[in-house]
Amino acid sequence: MRSSVLGSRLLFICDAAVALASSGIATASAPLTTTLNITVEDLWNLYIGPVETASINTTVEPTPIPSAELIPPPQLYYPSYLSGAQIPGQGKNESWSLPAGFWWGVSSASYQVEGAVKVDGRGPSLWDAFTHRAMSVADNQTGDVTINEYYMYKQDIQRIAAMGVKAYSFSIAWSRIFPFGNGPINEAGLKHYDDVIETCLQYGVQPQVTMYHWDLPLYIQLSYGGWTNEKIVDDFVAYTRVLLERWGNKVAQWYTFNEPISFCGEYPVPDGYFTRTTDIPDVQQPFWCGHYMLLAAGKTYQLARSMNITVPISIKNNGGYKLPRTSSDEDTEAVQRAWAFNEGWFADPLFLGDYPSRLKNFTSSFLPEFTAEERNMIKGASDYFAHDAYTAAYYMAPDVGIEGCLADANNSLYPKCYNSTYTLPASEGGWLIGPASDPNTRWLHKATEWLPAFLHYIQDTWTPANGIVITEFGMTEPFEAYKTKREDILTDPLRSAYYRDYVQAMLMAIQEGVTLVGCLAWSIADNLEWTAGFTVKFGLQYVNLTTQERYYKASFFELANLFQAYMRDSE
Ligand code: BGC
Repeated sequence: MRSSVLGSRLLFICDAAVALASSGIATASAPLTTTLNITVEDLWNLYIGPVETASINTTVEPTPIPSAELIPPPQLYYPSYLSGAQIPGQGKNESWSLPAGFWWGVSSASYQVEGAVKVDGRGPSLWDAFTHRAMSVADNQTGDVTINEYYMYKQDIQRIAAMGVKAYSFSIAWSRIFPFGNGPINEAGLKHYDDVIETCLQYGVQPQVTMYHWDLPLYIQLSYGGWTNEKIVDDFVAYTRVLLERWGNKVAQWYTFNEPISFCGEYPVPDGYFTRTTDIPDVQQPFWCGHYMLLAAGKTYQLARSMNITVPISIKNNGGYKLPRTSSDEDTEAVQRAWAFNEGWFADPLFLGDYPSRLKNFTSSFLPEFTAEERNMIKGASDYFAHDAYTAAYYMAPDVGIEGCLADANNSLYPKCYNSTYTLPASEGGWLIGPASDPNTRWLHKATEWLPAFLHYIQDTWTPANGIVITEFGMTEPFEAYKTKREDILTDPLRSAYYRDYVQAMLMAIQEGVTLVGCLAWSIADNLEWTAGFTVKFGLQYVNLTTQERYYKASFFELANLFQAYMRDSE
């Protein structure tokens, strides 16, 4: 029986953290424990405090988009040297085309876009705690309101459909469904996503859904340490079972996880705010997280298949293309270590059957071996090689050398023992790998010329049977947050050039034999960029955060136009 969490007092065993937080007493070495009955509201009050609410707080029904808004900028940024110009100002290479059935779309994630954090029974997540209490976020910004997608989704889906977008990839907030992460189910949360999915279908946009995009229910972190405890595997599968039962084959694609490298890298969670619930040494915590994530993904995948759910299910992995900074053997080895500790960490178990040996050399001293049964469950639990592939970087050995680093657990690069940079050595001029994005996204450069090599590397290394999907790519326009005039914001030449060159690089790779099935641009609209807050913008649409109005940027027309030009069939 499902029960509503609204209004009812729920019985929960809470750990010492609640007692300590409410009493304000400094943490003792041995935690004092108690048993409390707490509601979702109590959890908010104890751990997060007051939140902002939006002035628009009912679902916005779409009104027709004024036709003037759909007029592309007079000159798109196509290079003039390509043959076969179809339209003045545009070039098209007639030997390129996207395969039949290729899909493209735009993406978002619950905490970054939804807002309405306390509405309809949603429990607090780790990111509510990060932004409000535990981490430094640019300008103290939070996801309390952000772009109010919780109420604006109908209009936003209408707006992307009007641009010819085929797929919308969004994530479900676990704590809207299970406000405590486990325990009672919140029907209001399910109803909300019922409508988001229905609206996509109504507009002919494929709903693609990520089950976990980092917003762990806070209660799960507090009560047992989140991804560092194996209890999470069953809690996650109980949650995903509810999603699969409700929407199974209605969703066009499921993604069990978004970027485990990133969220496992958050462990250990910031000291001083969260009560320590684990004895696992800091350096090991990300790898336990990854281990439990793989088990949870494998179980969810097998569960879905046992329920006759046939749509693709994948894990979104992430990382950029890796180039050796010099041709030395050490730098070549540094690149191999970087593949192993990034993509390989999850792609090897999913596509090859076990962790890469370079990673295992470190983790085998504490992680259990996967049993044969677990290995079989995990191998194949990602139908596509789904990759968030934004950029590229140079890799090199640490200053003390790889062996020197491996012999010293206090080295800041241990246990990975590779280093990276965006510039060539001074002896080669010290040049940057590609044009820089906004200074607040230092990791991101326009390095689109490396994409074909990247896709070949993925295909050759992990041989994904169903091919590759690029589940995120995108660019921050430098200093966009400083612009005050709407027309200045909407004309975004670096992002436009990035999308143009990126899609052309995809086309080249496809022509060279890479099986690329679809792609998703990040992001549907400007949103909360985690700890960078709203200081950087990834959106294809500008959002006026005061009025919540949306406007298409030039890059959105660029992208839509490219797909229109290169789609082989009339899909
Ligand atoms: C994440 C998004 C993020 C984007 C840009 C990806 O790593 O999945 O949530 O906003 O990159 O940083």
